[in-house]
Amino acid sequence: MASQAKGKTPGESAVDAVAIPEVVYYSSASGNTERFVVRLGLSATRIPISPKQGLPRVTRPFVLICPTYADGEGRGAVPKQVIRFLNDPEQRALLLGVIGTGNRNFGATYALSGRIISEKCKVPFLYSFELAGTDTDIARLRTGLKELGKTKCLTAT
Ligand SMILES: Cc1cc2nc3c(=O)[nH]c(=O)nc-3n(C[C@H](O)[C@H](O)[C@H](O)COP(=O)(O)O)c2cc1C
Repeated sequence: MASQAKGKTPGESAVDAVAIPEVVYYSSASGNTERFVVRLGLSATRIPISPKQGLPRVTRPFVLICPTYADGEGRGAVPKQVIRFLNDPEQRALLLGVIGTGNRNFGATYALSGRIISEKCKVPFLYSFELAGTDTDIARLRTGLKELGKTKCLTAT
């Protein structure tokens, strides 16, 4: 079963919980993104590593966090399971924006998955962070997702 990092941060109100977009993420066995999402403490859904497991169905607007797995030429940057998930037009329609992750040691392909998904799905590339992120990344994303929710979630009917 897909693991889920769910919960409300202390002080988060019920209105915030509704307004903040769902977080959908992929994380491989190394688990960097999983660790980040757990620390983020928002409602989140994991795209499973194994294609044998069913893909999740998201029913409200979401932001996707996607690590990068490119080869030297930039190929294969977006994990296949993420491509499968985004191939569903109903899921794609709920995608508000993408956060790419990676490692700056990879140079030109740093966080490339986020840029590719942004371009292909025509959604904003909201942010990038390295590996499991920093406390600053967590704080920025919490604030940014709340702001995004106010404009995109509370107004969506
Ligand atoms: C085979 C391989 C290729 C990678 N390629 C890139 C890359 O092209 N660009 C990048 O920014 N990070 C790259 N990374 C780093 C991962 O995106 C980074 O470690 C990420 O935090 C992994 O997330 P996860 O542990 O949640 O799967 C690569 C890592 C591996 C193992």
